[in-house]
Amino acid sequence: MEIVIRDDAAAVHRTVADIVERRVRQGAAVLGVATGSTPLGTYRELGRRHREEALSFASCRAFLLDEYVGLPGNHPQSYRSVIATEFAAEIDIDPDAIDGPNGEAADIAAECARYDAAITASGGVDVQLLGIGSDGHIGFNEPGSSLVSRTRVKTLTRRTREDNARFFDSADEVPHHVMTQGLGTILEARHLVLVALGEGKAEALAASVEGPLAASCPASVIQMHPHVTVVVDEGAASAL
Ligand code: GLP
Repeated sequence: MEIVIRDDAAAVHRTVADIVERRVRQGAAVLGVATGSTPLGTYRELGRRHREEALSFASCRAFLLDEYVGLPGNHPQSYRSVIATEFAAEIDIDPDAIDGPNGEAADIAAECARYDAAITASGGVDVQLLGIGSDGHIGFNEPGSSLVSRTRVKTLTRRTREDNARFFDSADEVPHHVMTQGLGTILEARHLVLVALGEGKAEALAASVEGPLAASCPASVIQMHPHVTVVVDEGAASAL
């Protein structure tokens, strides 16, 4: 595992964009895209490189990490919408080449199985971006998640619903249920890039990279992966 500590968020986003760019310039990349606020600056930087430095995503595919159950796909806070507006709209990726769990599917369990199989059938994710929740979750794999789990439904903890309430008009509007790639699914990506910003993530980050491998800190599963880059600012690194 490589840990890169940068001075500030802008430098973190440039470093993460460098990793994505390197793989995209090799052609036909499968990108694993994360939501939450942390990767948004990286998406803006990749958009800038697309416009100003001819970085093309035309031959790329992308898979989302997770999705809220029950939010209409066009709801501004559905992760499908967030990726469409914050990432896809900035670059030249084919919108049909972006897949995510359908949170409105009639049969959610079947949709989770379809999605997990689609990721495998793509040949697998080349570069998987990951944020981290303050409780150590990745995707929406809350503490207690099986370390070999596949894409499935999870119930959000109160803490995560409170953390994510800032994206909604009120905490009550945050869905209780989500679909998320499992930890086993995430581990199949060829390169994991975990990004964290700010002191609020320091404790979870330290537990993930220096603590024991444990379901109580789902992000600690990255210790099992042979190719991980952790990119953080000084604040997120402060408990290392
Ligand atoms: C959500 C997402 C995660 C993300 C986390 C942290 O729970 N499902 O993928 O890592 O939020 O979000 P933020 O980057 O806004 O702190």
